[in-house]
Amino acid sequence: MVAFVIHRGLVIASILSIGLVHARRLNTQRDTSSNSSNSTDCRCAPGDDCFPSTDTWAQLNSSISGRLVNVVSSAAFCNDVSGGCTDAQWSSSTFRANIPGAMNQPLWEQDYFSDPPSVCFRNSSTTEPPVNVTQSCGQGSGDVPLFAILAESAGDIQAGVNFARDHNLRLAIKSSGHDYLGRSTARNSLLISTHKLQNISLVDNFTVGGVDQGPAVTIGSGVPLNSLYTALKAEGKIFVASSVATLAPAGGFVQGAGHSALSPSYGLAVDNVIDFTVVIASGDILTVNDAENSDLFWAMRGGGAGSWGVIISATFRVYPTFNAVYCDTNVTTSTPSIMGSVATVHARHIFDLDPLRAGQYFWVVPVDGTGSNSSLLAMQIQTIFPNNASVEAAEAALQPFIDDASNITDVQVETACEEQLINDMLFAADDSVGTNIILGSRLFPESLYETSPEAIGDMYVGLLENGTLGVFGNLVAGGKVAENANISMALNPAWRTAKTHVFLAHEWADSATIPDVIAAQHAFSSGYERAALVGLAGEDSGSYTNEGDRFEPNLQVTFYGSTENYEKLEQVKSAYDPEDLFLVNAGVGSERWDEAGFCRLA
Ligand SMILES: Cc1cc2nc3c(=O)[nH]c(=O)nc-3n(C[C@H](O)[C@H](O)[C@H](O)COP(=O)(O)OP(=O)(O)OC[C@H]3O[C@@H](n4cnc5c(N)ncnc54)[C@H](O)[C@@H]3O)c2cc1C
Ligand SMILES: *[C@@H]1O[C@H](CO)[C@@H](O)[C@H](O)[C@H]1NC(C)=O
Ligand SMILES: *[C@@H]1O[C@H](CO)[C@@H](O)[C@H](O)[C@H]1NC(C)=O
Ligand SMILES: *[C@@H]1O[C@H](CO)[C@@H](O)[C@H](O)[C@H]1NC(C)=O
Ligand SMILES: *[C@@H]1O[C@H](CO)[C@@H](O)[C@H](O)[C@H]1NC(C)=O
Ligand SMILES: *[C@@H]1O[C@H](CO)[C@@H](O)[C@H](O)[C@H]1NC(C)=O
Ligand SMILES: *[C@@H]1O[C@H](CO)[C@@H](O)[C@H](O)[C@H]1NC(C)=O
Ligand SMILES: *[C@@H]1O[C@H](CO)[C@@H](O)[C@H](O)[C@H]1NC(C)=O
Ligand SMILES: *[C@@H]1O[C@H](CO)[C@@H](O)[C@H](O)[C@H]1NC(C)=O
Ligand SMILES: *[C@@H]1O[C@H](CO)[C@@H](O)[C@H](O)[C@H]1NC(C)=O
Ligand SMILES: *[C@@H]1O[C@H](CO)[C@@H](O)[C@H](O)[C@H]1NC(C)=O
Ligand SMILES: *[C@@H]1O[C@H](CO)[C@@H](O)[C@H](O)[C@H]1NC(C)=O
Ligand SMILES: *[C@@H]1O[C@H](CO)[C@@H](O)[C@H](O)[C@H]1NC(C)=O
Repeated sequence: MVAFVIHRGLVIASILSIGLVHARRLNTQRDTSSNSSNSTDCRCAPGDDCFPSTDTWAQLNSSISGRLVNVVSSAAFCNDVSGGCTDAQWSSSTFRANIPGAMNQPLWEQDYFSDPPSVCFRNSSTTEPPVNVTQSCGQGSGDVPLFAILAESAGDIQAGVNFARDHNLRLAIKSSGHDYLGRSTARNSLLISTHKLQNISLVDNFTVGGVDQGPAVTIGSGVPLNSLYTALKAEGKIFVASSVATLAPAGGFVQGAGHSALSPSYGLAVDNVIDFTVVIASGDILTVNDAENSDLFWAMRGGGAGSWGVIISATFRVYPTFNAVYCDTNVTTSTPSIMGSVATVHARHIFDLDPLRAGQYFWVVPVDGTGSNSSLLAMQIQTIFPNNASVEAAEAALQPFIDDASNITDVQVETACEEQLINDMLFAADDSVGTNIILGSRLFPESLYETSPEAIGDMYVGLLENGTLGVFGNLVAGGKVAENANISMALNPAWRTAKTHVFLAHEWADSATIPDVIAAQHAFSSGYERAALVGLAGEDSGSYTNEGDRFEPNLQVTFYGSTENYEKLEQVKSAYDPEDLFLVNAGVGSERWDEAGFCRLA
């Protein structure tokens, strides 16, 4: 059987690197409307009287068996390793996983917003920084934490939570560093890394409140997806997640939603999680499920990553494994307007996949040139047909789309299908990361595909003509995701009526000027892109917190579903985390704090 890669992150990163652009100039001013000087209440920073002394840090260190480390950025780490890191190491999520200060998208390690900015670029001694910017690469530079606890036990986590709370420190939590909103790092913070929590334990009968939930797997919050797929393969089981190597399903993935090409058959990660073990702000360890602390269980299923406590482990349902059919389809043409017709045909045929409950990733990129100047555009489509579907059935389901697309003048279509064990299909050895990428997104309702396939095609034309890097679509909803609508949880209800999750990306090089970087970070929400998606999905439409824009203007509704849902989340937060110890960008309670999450707004 021919090996193939269906690694969505890898594909995105490699495509975007083709179209590497400098940030667009939108003349966005540095935002000084929320200065910390206005604050009445800040976390303690080095130099403040309240900041713990060296001796106090040493006491913490000895209480956790010496598992406290100093933290530097991935660039500083690489600059200090003799000879530097290779390009392959820099872009490897597996390599980054072992650097406590490393994010997968290194932009989050920089502090572009302070005056002066605090940044550290790879090969800092030879890299020309942007005009008027001095690099600083030491401990505490940028938005990298000061210290990290490389936790190996629940006790290590409790010690970290108690220390941060008692000393009024900014706290950050990281399992893998995959986050697209920079929620797993913070300037002047103590980081709790759960990367070393690697336990995997499978049981035939997991009970919650005395009720048998069937076969389930309990995993530490550091367990990466690739280890999990391999461990479950040996037991003839499969877990509902996607083809990403190091993403930690019991970390941010499940707190946001956790989508997969298997979701139309088996639901989202939030639909499959049945139990959490969590250290909350008081330092207590709680069992969180339908029977115990059920209000927190409600919140942790969709209420947003990093806002509730530190997850030690989570338990998920598992299913008997199966063979799946993977089909790779490429549609190419020469103009945005013809690609718009292809997108309309694609939208019209999206329901053809429903009888087999297939999932699909489909993205449109200018292959050659940008936007209206491109002479070659491609829609690449990866479809996964689960549950022992046959190759013949899969091909038959795709054929009506292929026929209609091929019939458009100047469109070429190629397709190929293969069968494989789902565990092997989803296994990825590594993720290609290490670039400055941010996203903005919307959940597109099923009704939109029913009523307006032409409008969807027109949206592609507008975005491509305006120079959007790519339009990424995930068919990861409908089916079981819709059928699970009556399970009570915080998950944005837009997921239950959605058909697809559509996102756009912005990328910049380290040489971009600081004003350009800041403009790029605001480009999705302040420019035509958000307007284009909202024009179709609606002003109150939903976006996926794990793959969205941290500057969404109406985040209570856009990320959390409604002001009522958000209000309920605030109530749960005040019960379990009254002092906002667990605070992240665009998270519940973030409106009370400055952009760095360091000072409470007056
Ligand atoms: C290449 C790539 C592919 C992706 N593919 C998908 C996909 O197919 N489907 C999908 O749904 N999402 C996908 N995502 C998005 C993914 O769900 C988010 O990046 C998610 O936040 C990752 O969680 P993490 O814990 O691995 O990352 P981290 O960056 O370590 O953490 C993310 C957030 O979770 C919090 N967190 C981490 N660990 C814990 C813990 N132990 N306790 C409490 N909070 C914790 C952090 O504080 C932070 O707020 C992808 C991301 C990337 C970069
Ligand atoms: C914020 O601080 C900057 C620099 O110190 C200052 O120029 C600006 O006026 C301040 N903004 C407000 C709203 O106070
Ligand atoms: C901060 O204080 C300045 C000057 O007093 C004021 O103009 C500004 O509105 C305040 N900003 C906030 C966010 O409270
Ligand atoms: C914590 O203690 C260990 C073991 O004694 C030591 O190696 C490490 O440097 C200490 N960490 C810090 C931040 O000082
Ligand atoms: C940094 O240096 C390494 C070799 O040490 C090289 O491979 C890499 O291309 C350089 N990267 C940049 C961004 O200059
Ligand atoms: C750089 O700083 C100098 C001195 O402050 C200033 O005159 C110049 O305009 C700055 N250049 C840019 C590109 O910001
Ligand atoms: C991991 O499993 C081992 C062996 O069962 C156990 O002793 C340990 O406490 C577990 N670790 C965590 C963090 O749950
Ligand atoms: C345990 O699970 C198996 C199948 O997963 C089931 O057949 C059996 O009835 C369960 N046992 C109990 C005691 O619930
Ligand atoms: C797939 O086929 C295997 C082997 O025949 C079987 O055990 C399993 O139950 C099937 N799974 C599904 C979802 O059809
Ligand atoms: C494709 O176009 C041809 C000629 O215009 C037409 O005969 C055929 O029916 C079309 N096929 C489909 C699937 O629409
Ligand atoms: C589709 O394009 C990708 C990327 O260029 C390529 O790897 C793949 O083989 C192509 N698939 C088909 C069926 O042509
Ligand atoms: C493309 O951008 C222009 C200028 O920013 C805007 O007027 C136009 O509406 C955009 N088109 C779409 C479809 O968003
Ligand atoms: C296309 O090329 C023209 C002329 O080179 C340029 O002005 C325009 O910005 C380009 N458009 C896009 C979307 O790249």
